Amino acid sequence: MTVPAIAAEGLARTIDAPWGRVHAVREATLDVDAGESVAIVGPSGSGKSTLLQLLGLLDTPTAGHLSLAGESTEAMSERQRSRRRSQHLGFVFQSFHLIAHKDVVHNVSLPLLYAGVPMAQHAQRARATLELVGMGSMATSAPLTLSGGERQRVAVARAAVHDPSVLLCDEPTGNLDAASSDLVLDVLLGLGKERGAAIVLVTHDPDVAARCDRTLEMRDGVLT
Ligand SMILES: Nc1ncnc2c1ncn2[C@@H]1O[C@H](COP(=O)(O)OP(=O)(O)OP(=O)(O)O)[C@@H](O)[C@H]1O
Ligand SMILES: [Mg+2]
Repeated sequence: MTVPAIAAEGLARTIDAPWGRVHAVREATLDVDAGESVAIVGPSGSGKSTLLQLLGLLDTPTAGHLSLAGESTEAMSERQRSRRRSQHLGFVFQSFHLIAHKDVVHNVSLPLLYAGVPMAQHAQRARATLELVGMGSMATSAPLTLSGGERQRVAVARAAVHDPSVLLCDEPTGNLDAASSDLVLDVLLGLGKERGAAIVLVTHDPDVAARCDRTLEMRDGVLT
């Protein structure tokens, strides 16, 4: 039996805000296998980003269980969670989050530093990943000179350069037109399949969701 890349059971996240208690995620149960892509759709405020943060160990659930590649995350120290994040998780955000004063190849290399990959391998691995997303010829460009779609392909390369087992994407095509969106999805889903990464992708766009293997819906904090 293969172990799912992500196994979440009854995950919940309650936030005590100054104005009262917020049930950002009430109940989220899902398994995602290596190489599988899952879209999460749902109205604004339904808890999609909070769920991604929980799956990415950027936030801690107030109830439920989360295992990554068969390893329970509850007992992990903050240091172990951080190491896990650096070595096994990749993130793609709607607004790219590229560092403006570093060129493309240096942006893409950055996760290799945090993952503890020897420096001698950084440039070659970053360039190889840029080739995979069709951005090899722009390795020395500054991010601000690129189009939105190009920036997001660089961001996908950065998320995948250290070969993470899980890619978490929050509205990765939210700022892109239909053609750029298609291209970004091609490279993202292609990378996931090729490298056997599990992908969880939050989107408002039904066409984007339809390209993933499965779609789940989040409503008022409940994933169905
Ligand atoms: N730090 C926080 N403090 C208070 N409330 C929060 C906090 N983070 C999230 N929430 C609330 O939790 C709920 C879920 O938020 P979340 O950002 O996960 O929604 P979302 O589905 O990603 O929405 P969108 O589609 O607009 O991005 C919302 O009601 C939000 O206001
Ligand atoms: Mg959100």
